[in-house]
Amino acid sequence: MQILQDITQTELTERYNKLKAIKDSLLNATTSPLYAYRQENSFHPVIGEGNHAARVMFVGEAPGENEAKQGRPFCGAAGKFLDVLLAHVGLERESVYITNLIKDRPPNNRDPLPEEIAFYSPFLDDQISIIRPDLVVTLGRFSMAYLFERMELREQLQPISKIHGKVCDGTFKATRLSLLTLYHPAAALYNGGMRQTLLSDFEAITAILGKK
Ligand code: URA
Repeated sequence: MQILQDITQTELTERYNKLKAIKDSLLNATTSPLYAYRQENSFHPVIGEGNHAARVMFVGEAPGENEAKQGRPFCGAAGKFLDVLLAHVGLERESVYITNLIKDRPPNNRDPLPEEIAFYSPFLDDQISIIRPDLVVTLGRFSMAYLFERMELREQLQPISKIHGKVCDGTFKATRLSLLTLYHPAAALYNGGMRQTLLSDFEAITAILGKK
C-alpha cells in the first residue's frame, strides 16, 4: 500500500513554503476571535504537523490545553489513542498529516462558534489544497459537518452515529477527494464501547488507500 504521494523535492519545498506562510499568518492573526484568549494564556496556535506528501489527512476539532501549550495537534490523551488507532492499521504519525478545523484553543474546550469556524476554515481549505491528500478523515462532528458542506455533499450528511466508518467520494476545488467520517478519539476516553468502534472504523483507511 502506498502511503505517500510520489512527488519531487521541488514540490515538497514549495509545499513547505506555502504551509509556513499559513503558520506565519496564523501567528499574526490578531483579528481571530480566539487571539486574545491565546495571548492571555501564552498558548500557541496549532497549525498541523506530519508529512507534506501524505495521502491521508486527519482533521480534528480544535486544540485542547496540552496542544495549545505545545503548539502540536493531538499530543494529549486523545492523541495517545490516535497513535493506537494509527498503529492498528500500520500507519505512523510521520506518514500522515494531522490538523484541526479550529487552530486556537476555545475556552474550556467548548464547542467552536460559527464565527470561529468561519475564521479558521479557510486555513484548513488551504492546507487541503497544498497537501492534496487522497483521503481526508474527519474526527468528530464539527470537521465532518464543515467538510460535507464545503465539498457539496450536504445531501449525504447524517448524524455521525449513522455515517461513522463510511466513505463519501466528492471533489474539493475541482480535485477528487474521499471523505471518511469517524468519531473523535476523545469519545473513546469516556466510552469503552467507542474504542472498538473506532478501531474497526479505522480499518477503512487502509482499504481506501489500497483501492486507489
Ligand atoms: N482534540 C482535537 O480535536 N484536536 C486536537 O488537536 C486535540 C484534541
